[in-house]
Amino acid sequence: MKKRVFSGIKPSGDLHLGNYIGALSQWVAHQHEYDNIFCIVDLHAITVPQNPHRLQEQTKSIAAWYIAAGINPDESIMFVQSDNPDHTYLGWILNCFTGIGQLGRMTQYKDKKEKTEFVSVGLFDYPALMAADILLYDTQFVPVGEDQKQHIELTRDVAERINGQYGHIFTIPEYMPPIAGERIMSLQQPDKKMSKSESDPNGTINLSDTPDQIREKLRIAVTDSGNEIIIDKKNKPAITNLITIYQALSGKTPQQLDAEYSGKGYKIFKQDLGEVIIQHLSPIQTRYSEIIHSKAIEKTLTNGANKAKEISTTKIQQVRNVIGISQ
Ligand code: TYM
Repeated sequence: MKKRVFSGIKPSGDLHLGNYIGALSQWVAHQHEYDNIFCIVDLHAITVPQNPHRLQEQTKSIAAWYIAAGINPDESIMFVQSDNPDHTYLGWILNCFTGIGQLGRMTQYKDKKEKTEFVSVGLFDYPALMAADILLYDTQFVPVGEDQKQHIELTRDVAERINGQYGHIFTIPEYMPPIAGERIMSLQQPDKKMSKSESDPNGTINLSDTPDQIREKLRIAVTDSGNEIIIDKKNKPAITNLITIYQALSGKTPQQLDAEYSGKGYKIFKQDLGEVIIQHLSPIQTRYSEIIHSKAIEKTLTNGANKAKEISTTKIQQVRNVIGISQ
């Protein structure tokens, strides 16, 4: 039997290269090896304020990017989180087994609360809902970027706590790191991760960017002192980040890149990287524009939610039985 993979992306902004390299491209690369469930996690998006119309548009847009990048809905389950209420149901139960102290130590929470005027309980409690997403489906592997690793640790802790008390209920999931690009950094601030909420749009390459936008963002991307194309996270964070992106999209090794660009300097490297990104994204963008207005996406998501619910119902019943809330 194939092992179960579960992952998701929040519809809280445009998808960028970090999301693609750290998550989506990995899902596609391993699609045939696993039994996959890919979710668009809209209930996570509303932990910070969202415009309702935009949220709806973005939810559909993310589904279209999943398919355009190569997720096959006949092979992998694809659905919107809020279409399966079992997520919030289990989320509540997991709240009762999650420590306030541990939630308070989550770096994403600490980071986000500084940037948000109104800090909701939802933002604080976000990892318990994420744990529910994962544990509902007996997930074995969670392919995500490095920024989500701490949330997976919490998921494991909560699952182990419940299993310890009630017997084996939940499968303990594992973090599945991407082959390259666990943490893609901003092109403007190489000490900060590329993010949907980054204030400077030049730091982020979106999947929807035009070739000219990509060329320009690369042209003005910050570099380090010197001009060697070498990986050195500590002393050359900017060029290290660009090499990582190049490597992830071209499949070339750092040694190959070193041989190819030795003595050529940053300008040529950045120009070539721009073309690598454009070539990689171009067929995905074409497919995206073909499907984004199609009604088939809604149907795919409805079917996906039904299939997800079929699996999660059994888990919810099992949990209800063991904790004593079923009649
Ligand atoms: P989100 O929407 O912030 O990001 C989606 C995915 O993209 C990865 N990612 C990155 N990877 C490398 N470099 C970056 N700069 C970068 N930025 C984002 C994230 O690690 C993620 O894999 N909490 C999750 C969504 C979620 C989820 C889940 C994921 C909710 N429930 C259950 C897996 C399983 C999040 O906010 O992702």
